[in-house]
Amino acid sequence: MHARQRRWTALTLGLVLLAGGGLAGSLSNSASAQATYEIEPRAPEYLYARTCGYCHGHNIAPIIRGRNLPPAVISSIVRSGMGAMPAFKPTEITDTELEALSEWISQSEADPEEHGQ
Ligand code: HEC
Repeated sequence: MHARQRRWTALTLGLVLLAGGGLAGSLSNSASAQATYEIEPRAPEYLYARTCGYCHGHNIAPIIRGRNLPPAVISSIVRSGMGAMPAFKPTEITDTELEALSEWISQSEADPEEHGQ
């Protein structure tokens, strides 16, 4: 093979490898971005207002803030339900979210704007 021809072959091979590496890199980037999005936990205040506060604090269910209820008790009631209260599955509130939510409710001050059952 001519010396000049060999140099071109090496250069072409290098470009092909570069392009392939770039494509694989961008594919794995988008996969990890999606995973991060799915596991991003929602804040306890948000979950309480959107999910629990629908009943608790709005005449439908007992007041649960400002009572120092143990977090483990809150979590177990959320997972199994209680009387008229529905159970919430890990697909609705993840374990990580529930842990933070129960801790937040347990520590939270009573809100004078809320009304119990
Ligand atoms: C559809 C209305 C509704 C929603 C939504 C709801 N609850 Fe309840 N919850 C109730 C009712 C009603 C009771 C009282 C059940 C009983 O005494 O039989 C209750 C009871 C409880 C209790 C026990 C309170 C006590 O004094 O014994 C806790 C703790 C609790 N809920 C936490 C939560 C949390 C945390 C959420 C949000 C993830 C939530 N609940 C969402 C209706 C609801």
